[in-house]
Amino acid sequence: MNARVLFLAVFSFFAVCSAISAVDLDVQHALVVYDPKLNDLNDTETVSTEVNQLLNNLNDNYKVTLKTYDDEDIKLFFDDALRYDHLVLLPSSKKGIAAKSGLSQHQLLDYINGNGNILVVGGVSAVLPDAIRVFLNEIGIYPSPKNFKLTDHFHSTPEGKVELDSTTNLIPNRIVKTLSVKEYEGSAALVNNNEHIFPIIKGSPTSFTAKSAVEAIEQDATWTFGEQGFLAVGFQALNNARLAWVGSEALLAEAGLYKWTFQQQNVLKLQFVEHFKEDTPLDINPTLYRIKDQSIYVIGVSELVDGKWVPYEVLEEEDQLQLAFKMLDPYQRLNLLPLGFVSSTKESEQLDAFAYFANFTVPDHHGMFTFELDYKRTGLSYLSDAKIVTVRHLANDEFKRSWDITNSWLYVASAFLVAVAWFLFVVNYIYVSKTDLKKKNI
Ligand SMILES: *[C@@H]1O[C@H](CO)[C@@H](O)[C@H](O)[C@H]1NC(C)=O
Ligand SMILES: *[C@@H]1O[C@H](CO)[C@@H](O)[C@H](O)[C@H]1NC(C)=O
Repeated sequence: MNARVLFLAVFSFFAVCSAISAVDLDVQHALVVYDPKLNDLNDTETVSTEVNQLLNNLNDNYKVTLKTYDDEDIKLFFDDALRYDHLVLLPSSKKGIAAKSGLSQHQLLDYINGNGNILVVGGVSAVLPDAIRVFLNEIGIYPSPKNFKLTDHFHSTPEGKVELDSTTNLIPNRIVKTLSVKEYEGSAALVNNNEHIFPIIKGSPTSFTAKSAVEAIEQDATWTFGEQGFLAVGFQALNNARLAWVGSEALLAEAGLYKWTFQQQNVLKLQFVEHFKEDTPLDINPTLYRIKDQSIYVIGVSELVDGKWVPYEVLEEEDQLQLAFKMLDPYQRLNLLPLGFVSSTKESEQLDAFAYFANFTVPDHHGMFTFELDYKRTGLSYLSDAKIVTVRHLANDEFKRSWDITNSWLYVASAFLVAVAWFLFVVNYIYVSKTDLKKKNI
């Protein structure tokens, strides 16, 4: 092989590599696992409109892989990296599945820890494969078993479906504003008090979940009563990975639910974090502060809306962003005040972020302090940032001179007074109070 061919070969190899990595970087992958008995995704004609709507959204945004629960070589990981960014688990008709090792409880947990998002869809005649059920239980979601159905004799359609409406069934949240699904046939879940879980749709006070075939309600044949039964539950881990469980395919009509799960909405981004001393605004993020310096902290936050970053403006009191300036304990905890629309990069003209600021005096205490931003609001991705700075004492030549200190004026004045008094005394002694010698002699 001559040198030129070798060069060409090497060059084209690199060209191919960079092309592959460029493609890989911006395309996200999604895996849909299904059971052909319940949803034959190969034949979209037979699949319900809700599932089709979900698949269309996936196909529009991601590279989608379809696999059945019987596919033994489902693998969520490629070495340690995630193969898929999003995972959809459609209902299964069997508890025992062939894809046991790929979808084990530990794999699913690692998947969440690795920032993967999961959408789990339940149903009355569907079971959750054991590993998936155990995984949901571990998070704190307890879906009802197979053949358990949400029933509500006070709000039901002639066909026996439960009627849903926004006021009774929707828990105020940022993900689904109003319910478009009016009739529901599906299961319900109990949830525990995991603080990262938040129910989105709940059962009405007169609803219950019971084994559908059984007439009499008894303890073994019931799962939830009243508002303890939830039809859609969200979970967001500390790393911002999201999981949603819905009790029926019908709820896939609520686009907000799966868009939230796949990080298409309610995603926040911290565009920049800057702090500086008020008198040296050009020195951004200094590591050294002096006690009692006036410090200014500025951040820019954007929200993802329809695939674009737009300014995130806080409108509600309880959604305010806060800064804590802390050393072990916060010395300052301040609400960030709105500053206005800004652009997140210097070059661009586009106002894609909203800036917030705080202006405070560094406490009179030296040590290592942290500018800490910790923003956790249900349904929004979490923001957190920590910038560590040193706060030092005054240097020797930075203390106030004695005359700058008003308290010292008394002492300075008394020192002068002593000198003046001594002078007056001497003058008095020598010239004024001369003893009249003549009189003395008499
Ligand atoms: C779906 O189609 C693919 C390719 O056309 C095929 O390999 C697969 O076995 C089909 N799956 C089912 C469940 O029919
Ligand atoms: C910060 O607060 C100090 C003291 O209240 C004030 O003098 C200064 O003008 C404020 N600076 C800004 C930029 O708001």
